[in-house]
Amino acid sequence: MSSAKKNYTRITTKSLTEMKANGEKIAMLTAYDYTLAGIVDQAGIDIILVGDSASNVMAGHETTLPITLDQMIYHASSVVRAVERALVVVDLPFGTYQADSKEALRSAIRIMKESGAHAVKLEGGKEVKESIERILKAGIPVMGHLGLTPQSIYKFGTYTVRAREEEEAKQLITDAQMLEQIGCFGVVLEKIPAALAGKVAQEISIPVIGIGAGNQVDGQVLVLHDMLGMSKEFSPRFLRRYLDLNTSISQAVQSYTSDVKKGDFPNDKEQY
Ligand code: KIV
Repeated sequence: MSSAKKNYTRITTKSLTEMKANGEKIAMLTAYDYTLAGIVDQAGIDIILVGDSASNVMAGHETTLPITLDQMIYHASSVVRAVERALVVVDLPFGTYQADSKEALRSAIRIMKESGAHAVKLEGGKEVKESIERILKAGIPVMGHLGLTPQSIYKFGTYTVRAREEEEAKQLITDAQMLEQIGCFGVVLEKIPAALAGKVAQEISIPVIGIGAGNQVDGQVLVLHDMLGMSKEFSPRFLRRYLDLNTSISQAVQSYTSDVKKGDFPNDKEQY
């Protein structure tokens, strides 16, 4: 493992393969809008995921299921307009790729054509193999997503750690190997035991990005709003908050409201 960091002016799927080979960890965050995507990109993130978690954090839905393809394209095109360096990956939302592989390809093409993003991500293993193969055949880079796959929440019934049992762990390894073999450029592993995630990262040559999957993987992803501390309620063990924006924003809004009510804002210098 080398710690030498190459300076990439633009991150591509090839850069990510190189990073894994060089032992350089990959940093990935979500973004859903122009302003935050620009800040995140300028700060040097490697991958921006326009996640279907937008359904939760932007729209207030309980799950990721309701968000539509049109809504994902709207978020993705806002992000793409701001980004100069990061690779922009967009989630295929629930219901746009499971029915058949032709529909999956049409959905992926819409995302690439209408948003200008660089790649798509979709959830699942062998059950979506045909869809992934068809998308890859059209020249669209695909990232896989295994472990806790939130689009299947009603099948799981809970957001607890996946693949603790041997059978599910074995299937996850087989699925990860299949994703590598058919040509995915990377895979997200969500909420699985760290040792299992580390084993997958060792067994496949494509980058493995973890969320709640320990530190033996090739990179990490978090939901931006969670790591900025925008919400106080969502507090899984894997989440590290780098800011308490909830408190900061609340204090700023309270100060503004108070200034307006006192007639203190605007002052003489803040008017024409
Ligand atoms: O939608 C999302 O934000 C995701 C991450 C949790 C990986 O898929």
